[in-house]
Parts: sequence; C-alpha cells; structure tokens
Amino acid sequence: MSYDANTFQNLISHAKEYGYIFQSSEIYDGLAAVYDYGQNGAQLKKNIRDAWWKTMTQLNDNIVGIDAAIFMHPTTWKASGHVDNFSDPMIDNKDSQKRYRVDHLIEAHAERLEAEGQKLKAEELISDMEKLLAADDLAGVKQLIVDNNMKCSVSGTCNWTDVRQFNLMFSTELGSVADEASTIYLRPETAQGIFVNFLNVQKTGRMKIPFGIAQTGKAFRNEIVARQFIFRMREFEQMEMQFFIRPGSQKEWYAHWKEERLKWHKEVMGFPAERLQYHDHVKLAHYADAAVDVEFNFPFGWKELEGIHSRTDYDLGRHQEFSKKKQQYFDTEINQNYVPYVIETSVGLDRLVLATLSNAYAEEKWTKEDGSEDSRVVLKIPANLAPTKLAVLPLTKKDGLPEIARDLINDCKSSFHCFYEEKDSIGKRYRRMDAIGTPFAVTVDHQTKEDNTVTIRYRDTMTQERIHLNAVKAKVLAAVTK
Ligand code: GAP
Repeated sequence: MSYDANTFQNLISHAKEYGYIFQSSEIYDGLAAVYDYGQNGAQLKKNIRDAWWKTMTQLNDNIVGIDAAIFMHPTTWKASGHVDNFSDPMIDNKDSQKRYRVDHLIEAHAERLEAEGQKLKAEELISDMEKLLAADDLAGVKQLIVDNNMKCSVSGTCNWTDVRQFNLMFSTELGSVADEASTIYLRPETAQGIFVNFLNVQKTGRMKIPFGIAQTGKAFRNEIVARQFIFRMREFEQMEMQFFIRPGSQKEWYAHWKEERLKWHKEVMGFPAERLQYHDHVKLAHYADAAVDVEFNFPFGWKELEGIHSRTDYDLGRHQEFSKKKQQYFDTEINQNYVPYVIETSVGLDRLVLATLSNAYAEEKWTKEDGSEDSRVVLKIPANLAPTKLAVLPLTKKDGLPEIARDLINDCKSSFHCFYEEKDSIGKRYRRMDAIGTPFAVTVDHQTKEDNTVTIRYRDTMTQERIHLNAVKAKVLAAVTK
C-alpha cells in the first residue's frame, strides 16, 4: 500500500497494540532508539532469523554457523579499524545544544532546496559534501554548512561548533577493581567474531576454501541520530556471513552473493521486486574493494537493508598483524599458502522486521453486498514468517465444539504455532487474527460434529471454504514450509 506520514504512525501504533514492538522501558518514559519485541514481534523475528539460518547453513553445504561472544579482546577493534575509523562527523548547535550528523543536516537542506524547485543546487550541495567527506576535510564541511546558511531546527540559528568525529562504539570496563579493569567494547558488528574464529572453524570443520561462516547476534552502536522507529537502533541484531575465498576470485564471488541475496529477499522474505533495488557504493569503507547495498522502499523512502562487501584480505591480514598469529590457509589445489579474501553479506534483522511489517500492513475499506461500508487493518505477513499460522475458533463455547477445536490444535501444535480463541463473535475474532497477521483461521461449528468438516478462512482474500478436519494440518504445513 502507499504510505503517508500518518500511515507510518498508524503502523507503529499497530505494532504496539498487537504485541509486536514496544518502546524499551516504557514505564520510565522509554529509552531513545532502543526497542523491545513483544510476543508476536519476538516470534516474527525468530522466524526471519531461522529462515536466514536455514538458507545459509542448511541449504549451502559449505557454510557453517557459529555463536561468538559479544565481548571480544579490545585489540580486536584496534585491528579491525573500528577504534580509529568507526565514527560519524557531527556538529552541534551552540544555542540549542542539538547534535547533528553533518550528512543528515546537509541532506535535509538539499531536500528542502529540491522541494523549492532548486534541483541543480541540491545536487551540487550533495556532490560538494561527498567530496569534502571523502577528503576528511571537516573544516570544509563546516564552511559548506555556514555558506548555505543551514539552520538548527530547534534554535533556528546558524551558531555551529566545529565538525568533530564521534566514535560509535559503546565501551565499558571488564574486571571489578577499577584500576585493574580494562576498557572493553560492546561489539559494533558480529563479523569480527567470525574473523577471529576463522582458523578454529576451518581446522575443526576441515573446511575447504571456498567456505562460509554465518552468525546472528546483537550489535551495539551509539547512533547519535537514531530515527525512524526500529530502522536505526542503538542495540540491534545482525545476520552476517563471511565467505572465505581464494585471492583473485573476489569479483566472481561478489557477483554470486549479490545475486543470491536479492533472490532471498524476494523468494524467502516475499518482498515484491519493485520494493527492492541495488545501490552501488561509490565511497568505499576502509576495508572494502567493492560494496553494494540491497535497498528496500521503506515508508520513509529507499534505505539500506543489507550490505554485500568484498573485504579483500583486510580483516584476516590485520588480525594476523595484531595477534602475530598466522591467519593462512594452505590450498592443496594450487599448493599455496595465503590469507583468504572475504565476501561478506550483512543484513539487519530489525530492518527485515520493519520491512516485513511495512510490506504487510494494509488499511482496507470496501462496500458490502448490502451497500454498507466495512474495513479492516491486516498484516499480510507471508505464511512462512507469520508468528501464528493457524487460529482455531469454536463457533460456541458449548456442544462439544471447544473440545474438537482443542483436539485439532493438539494435533498441529508440534508442527506450527496455533491460537485458540472462543470469546466474541466469529467476525471479531477474524479481525483480530487479521490484525496479528495469522494466515489461516478455522471455525469449528455444529456441522463439524456431523461430517468432520470445518470452515477455513484465508486472511488475504477473506475467502472461505469447507474442508475435512483431517486436511487442515497438511494444508497449513504446505503453505508455511519454505
Ligand atoms: N559487518 C559489516 C557491517 O556491519 P553495516 O553496513 O554497518 O556493515 C550491516 O551494517 C547491516 O546492519 C545494515 O545493512 C543494517 O541492516 C544493519 N544495521 C546497521 N546499523 C544499524 C542500526 N543502528 N540499527 C539497525 N540496523 C542496523
């Protein structure tokens, strides 16, 4: 469906009302850019994580999964470049004390210029900014902000500090005695847990290049500007896969993973092709020789969902240098030792949840046969990802109907999530299941007692049909298994 700002706000309220996503520590007025997943959100997130894990580690013979710790030796982050390079250029308004990421401030100004019909000027501004940021010319960036008379949205003034780099890593202390404790970081990406275990996995799994290591888990970034609901969070979850390859084969494997990952978003996540696009990086991260984003058309525009990076031998090379332990592989096919190159796929699980909800959320209105108006809010989450697959609803609370419904649930619940409900009219119960995104609802009625048939209702079309009780499980299973 098409979105305006109101629809996006409605989606956020809906996610809360139906147990998907809550503001963290809400009773204390919340914590900015930190969210909790409720009963339906946690299950949706798990289903997406499981789908990714299955694709990576079960459908690919040469990819295995690990689960590395969040805390890592502090030198890891020196070696990876995060201590020195993982920062965003920021500027503060001296009057309001509000801090801005300079690229966001300049982009917002360019958007205003474009809205006023000054498209060329807007493009020139963005191009100037990109050149200055690429050259690390922070004084030049400040001058650009001043010359263009960019104002703080709170104070309305142009009274700016210098532009400074802010590191995005959270740090804490390991150890209980203050002067013995050492600074340690919460990992800002899961990837480094894979790199430092490259040889452990390769040797214990007797892996032969090319092979991959996959991992899902929490990552933490002190995002200064955290916006757009769960799009940019301070605590989030990544699903990353490092694919170790022979040097020189990176172009071919980069093309392979670029294509595979787009296909996954369409076939497993069920995103329509028109909501997905590639965005090739011009400015590359310090570790990459090629990079592309898979972008999704979110309610607030095209934004990054996943990054595919050709990381060369940067990471293993740096860990070899800092740990002084060889990170090499002996390739028996060519009789050579080398530090492998890496193609990385890195997707944000929370962004996938947001993309799924944005794609699924619909406010529908129609005219009924008797001329009256009807409406519903529905989450058309693909059946393989929906938190609950089947609702079983006895028409009444008596005449043995609840028992038949319970028996059906007992038969199905080891295979998929079911939901039982006997309160309210059937119409109201269907609407609640639509709102949660349950793809199938079965009603047990008096006819069921006579001929063992039930009514099955399909969420997306609202059509219903009569099928045998024994056919329900197979029908749902066929739809939810991918
Ligand atoms: N290991 C490479 C890496 O971390 P990245 O582009 O910084 O690359 C990868 O992050 C993915 O992680 C992004 O495409 C996005 O989906 C997700 N991500 C990054 N920062 C995030 C944040 N603050 N909140 C939610 N998801 C985030």
